Amino acid sequence: MAKVTVVGAGNVGATVADVLAYREVANEVVLLDIKEGVAEGKALDIFQKSPVTMYDTRTVGATNDYSKTANSDVVVITSGLPRKPGMTRDDLIGVNSGIVKSVVEQVVKYSPKCVIIIVSNPLDVMTYQAHLTSKFPRNRVIGMAGVLDTARYKAFIAEALKVSVKDVQAQLLGGHGDTMVPLPRYTNVGGIPVTELLSKKKLDAIVERTKNGGGELVKLMGTSAWYAPGASAAAMVEAIVKDQKRVFPCCVKLEGEYGIDDCYLGVPVVLGKKGVEKVLELKLTKAENDLLQTSRKHVLEVMSVLQK
Ligand code: LAC
Repeated sequence: MAKVTVVGAGNVGATVADVLAYREVANEVVLLDIKEGVAEGKALDIFQKSPVTMYDTRTVGATNDYSKTANSDVVVITSGLPRKPGMTRDDLIGVNSGIVKSVVEQVVKYSPKCVIIIVSNPLDVMTYQAHLTSKFPRNRVIGMAGVLDTARYKAFIAEALKVSVKDVQAQLLGGHGDTMVPLPRYTNVGGIPVTELLSKKKLDAIVERTKNGGGELVKLMGTSAWYAPGASAAAMVEAIVKDQKRVFPCCVKLEGEYGIDDCYLGVPVVLGKKGVEKVLELKLTKAENDLLQTSRKHVLEVMSVLQK
């Protein structure tokens, strides 16, 4: 059975641990934070919920003691500052790149064979940072963005059509930000292309709302979201731990796919025991490819800030 570590016991990290426990994805989930007692407290609270909602996963907390995380199969990194109103995800790079670097150094020391899932923002560039620091092959350094972004997209489509969210399937490409590329051509509702069910105007509005999905929540709450981001990271952990071969859009290092080899970007992949087991390459229209290239350029700009 599996051991999973979640670094960062803020709202997102605690939600990841809670969902992993509730779904019995692992038998041990270690929650780690730098703030004295916070991870221990949240892990204990989740453990005390287990007799009520019935799960056997044991959650354990640790204050900066990475020896407790030793030999984890998957490590989810949520550390760093969240956005405040008026900030873009890219504004976080200065602080969060240092945090992600020091966390990854510790993670790798104690779990040299783990799969790392990055949740910290700016997502695509923090995943690149984790790759640079860990020196892990690309299948074991993955960013969580597409599962969340497609979740928002699917939820809005289900709401517009008054159908079950369970029947909406979708794909999305690009970075986690304003340049993400939802793909209406690869979106269906119970197998019916969404373009046959919604007008272009309505779909365009949903695509726009999806792109600003994170920002909409920051505006409402004064900080960034956690339920959907936490559940999205947990779904990726589950696919890996249970070797499910799920098809998810994830942030991965491209090595020639889509004609791109210099960048971390969101694309559909197969997730299983080895992490990213396959990158799926779609045939894009010129318009879709143009949007993907714009997204690539944006991520490259933020990457260049990191290199400085
Ligand atoms: C969001 C943050 C997690 O999109 O990036 O809500």
